[in-house]
Amino acid sequence: MSDREALLILDFGSQYTQLIARRVREQRVYCEIHPWTRAAEAIATLRPRGVILSGGPASVDDPGAPTLAPEVLAAGSPVLGICYGMQLLAHDLGGRTRPAAKREYGRMPVRVLTPDNVLAGFEPGETLATWMSHGDEIDALPRGFEVLAVSDSSAPAAVVDPRRRLYGLLFHPEVHHTERGAAILENFLFGVCGFTPSWTMASFADEAVAAIRATVGGARAVCALSGGVDSAVAAALVQRAIGERLTCIFVDTGLLRLHEAEQVVNTFANHMRLNVVAVNAAPRFLAALAGVEDPEEKRRRVGYAFIEVFEAEAAKLGTGVESLVQGTLYPDVVESAVGTGPAVTIKTHHNVGGLPERMRLKVVEPLRDLFKDEVRQLGRELGLPEELVGRHPFPGPGLAIRVLGEVTAERLDLLRRADAIYLQEIRGAGLYDAIWQAFAVLLPVRSVGVMGDHRTYENVVALRAVTSTDGMTADWFPFPHDALARISNRIINEVRGVNRVTYDVSSKPPSTIEWE
Ligand code: XMP
Repeated sequence: MSDREALLILDFGSQYTQLIARRVREQRVYCEIHPWTRAAEAIATLRPRGVILSGGPASVDDPGAPTLAPEVLAAGSPVLGICYGMQLLAHDLGGRTRPAAKREYGRMPVRVLTPDNVLAGFEPGETLATWMSHGDEIDALPRGFEVLAVSDSSAPAAVVDPRRRLYGLLFHPEVHHTERGAAILENFLFGVCGFTPSWTMASFADEAVAAIRATVGGARAVCALSGGVDSAVAAALVQRAIGERLTCIFVDTGLLRLHEAEQVVNTFANHMRLNVVAVNAAPRFLAALAGVEDPEEKRRRVGYAFIEVFEAEAAKLGTGVESLVQGTLYPDVVESAVGTGPAVTIKTHHNVGGLPERMRLKVVEPLRDLFKDEVRQLGRELGLPEELVGRHPFPGPGLAIRVLGEVTAERLDLLRRADAIYLQEIRGAGLYDAIWQAFAVLLPVRSVGVMGDHRTYENVVALRAVTSTDGMTADWFPFPHDALARISNRIINEVRGVNRVTYDVSSKPPSTIEWE
């Protein structure tokens, strides 16, 4: 438990819950998301200065609908209910909700009646474009509540019980489509709850360093470096806390991009002065992948080989290693804690899962409270080089899932060269930072072409580039045609064995970012 000021977000299943957390943190207020089922524990451990109840897909009158634990109101902190959260407040306090005559989804105007409390600074009569997605509205308000704003159909769109400091919004202030949504959240956080905007990456780093020292004690820790942002920032933070007692192990799987292994070692050992043990395990991974075409089987084998190599290297470090540092991020923590219903495995995302139990290590996850963009900020705060901090994500199984079908040294080599040209051109065109992730994929088909007077029958490379905020959903990047033309031309001319290049125009869902 820490003494920092915190806001609690109770999740009732809204697709926007993480967005609420991001908006709150953008205001430099620390917050945590907890599922509604664990409200009482969250109130006890976090002792929040304010609570936000998220929206959700249910109706409060549905059998088995999520409920509000009495501890939340008993704690006496201000509570803001958004959408379902608002219905729930009204319902529990003796008001009445009913299905709206017209279901309201998307952009809806809201008219301000009383510019007070969460609507402080607005104008009476002002109309705001807001984003709604709800099927119910409040029919009768509980005693003590007043209406601050109404919807098109005159339903209460913003309500307050000033005495108990309870607030409700029918619309979503956290989505960008809601005009001045940030001002409404600011009013709640600062005007109502009295937070100070003190959550910064510098303050986070100080707290994290103290916490890491407490966990690791006088022992040593080990960290698997992948070359990606998350493990790099985690390692840098742990190094700040325990210095030389951290050893990083970098496993070169042979599944990395062109020159990547050398760059990683150079950056970490020379630039960041981390203790890095680099292991060239490429032959072992290739052997493990021989003859395997199934994507999940590839993931399993890469994961297994990784654990074996890592474990063997860690054993060489001798005694005193008691902790394993992992770059787990907040979205993963929330996914596993809040997930409602049985989730279907689309792809097994392996990193170093399974290791801590086998090696009897304590897990240190210093980034488990952070979103990806916050990890990048923290990386900058810790002085990591920009080319590392701004790096596109790269999957644990690496190029094994980008060489479709069987993975061989030749096919890896071919893909690496095509991919390097693609990334070089993207950087040259100044597009790297506008893209979430870009990579080439080697398809398991051949196509007919003509070069000079000769028929060719060679490989096809697909180019993928997507925009995204968290990798959960993604859209294909509208690539400038002249850049595509140049890339295709270069790949076909410079990479022997490729005679065709295609561009992937699929969004996620229904596709995924990686092809396997
Ligand atoms: P998909 O392909 O599922 O990818 O849309 C979403 C994001 O996750 C990355 N990815 C992985 N990361 N281990 C990882 O660490 C994996 O097995 C893995 N598979 C996909 C992918 O690159 C994208 O950023």
